[in-house]
Amino acid sequence: MTRINKKEISRDMKAYAEDILNSKNFIESENNIQHSDVTVRKHCLKVAFLSMWLNRRFNVKCNEKELTRGALLHDFFLYDWHAPEHCGLKNLHGFKHPGIALKNASKEFTLTEKEKNIISSHMWPLTLRHMPKCREAWVVTAADKYISTVESLRLHKLPKLIRVKVRA
Ligand SMILES: [Fe+2]
Ligand SMILES: [Fe+2]
Repeated sequence: MTRINKKEISRDMKAYAEDILNSKNFIESENNIQHSDVTVRKHCLKVAFLSMWLNRRFNVKCNEKELTRGALLHDFFLYDWHAPEHCGLKNLHGFKHPGIALKNASKEFTLTEKEKNIISSHMWPLTLRHMPKCREAWVVTAADKYISTVESLRLHKLPKLIRVKVRA
């Protein structure tokens, strides 16, 4: 089995996306909760880290820079989705936030077509018309579903095996 060096992943993520990691809005997403007690910023770091890990472990041959940047920006919706004005059936956060994240990310960063597809399709099949069209988007949508499930069920509180830990 290929041994994946986690420090190398963290180092490479920084090199690929230092501008995103140091941007005001990304840092401030630490103030918004994503699932249970996990912030949006940490959730995005975890999804990016797992995407990189999956790519290296299974030799998926993704473009790692686009993979990292798309994963970090996939939930760049920039609001507290638990607030009354954003949650509930009428607001359809689950359906709408990929489009909002794409709009916000496009304003601040120059995105490639793959990065746009990663962001807009990460909730697929919920967003039926926005399907992953590249291997990078497939990896991120899988990583996001895994991390979201772990966070929602609070399994990240459990030790090792199923935990994806990042230094934030
Ligand atoms: Fe999302
Ligand atoms: Fe997510």
